Amino acid sequence: MENQMEIVILPDSAEVGRVAASVIADVVARKPDGALGLATGSSPLAIYDELARRAAAGELDFSRMRGFALDEYVGLDYAHPESYHAVIDRTVTKPLGMDPELVSVPDGLAQDVPAACAAYEAAIDAAGGIDVQILGIGANGHIGFNEPTSSLASRTRIKTLTPKTRADNARFFDSPEAVPTHCVTQGLGTILRARRLVLVAQGEAKAEAIAAAVEGPVSASCPASVLQLHEHATVVIDEGAASRLHNADYYRYTWANKPEWQRY
Ligand code: GLP
Repeated sequence: MENQMEIVILPDSAEVGRVAASVIADVVARKPDGALGLATGSSPLAIYDELARRAAAGELDFSRMRGFALDEYVGLDYAHPESYHAVIDRTVTKPLGMDPELVSVPDGLAQDVPAACAAYEAAIDAAGGIDVQILGIGANGHIGFNEPTSSLASRTRIKTLTPKTRADNARFFDSPEAVPTHCVTQGLGTILRARRLVLVAQGEAKAEAIAAAVEGPVSASCPASVLQLHEHATVVIDEGAASRLHNADYYRYTWANKPEWQRY
């Protein structure tokens, strides 16, 4: 059993993708019918690119892996290219060669949202839990769509997006008003139940959120700080995202001296 929060600082986004992909690849190789927790957003794209390359080269087989996305907008048609159903299909399911039948995304169109959220939690449990959860981080410290002040014990539920998150995501829509106001997201308590967490971030815009998540107090004010409660979380970031960390030199030293016996 691992017991660590590991901070890995790398020169650029491609390296972030390569190292984070190695963590995922390790799980897929050991458990080819396991379950991946999938994140949307631009941050994990470098991971998916690297995993798709390894799948195309025949090094990895995702055909029996299950996938569970973190979140979805409420009320956005799944045919909309920015619905997370469409994004996961385009950036993960197809490029990695996953079976669409085995990939689930929370139901943002359900008539009975609480029932759909409970069903999503039950589906994760029925799959035996998530083996490794991929995470990005919002500039305000959100993971999934767990905005600041989300309960640290929360499960999959409906949330109201903050104006900041709607503004950040407006670039994907025709106008800022077109960004949905609500979402369904796995809770922080759901995320904590995954056996492994891998959070990636690139660029200075994420530096403050990363510093709060890694070195700040565990607090619902920075939802990503909940990673400090997990027994095996890995934070893989570039120099820009690392630029506000006080102990960056120690993390670099730890990584440079990582013992052979310690897996990714
Ligand atoms: C989005 C997603 C998150 C993602 C975050 C950062 O709203 N719901 O899962 O981590 O915001 O996105 P990006 O990686 O594009 O900066």
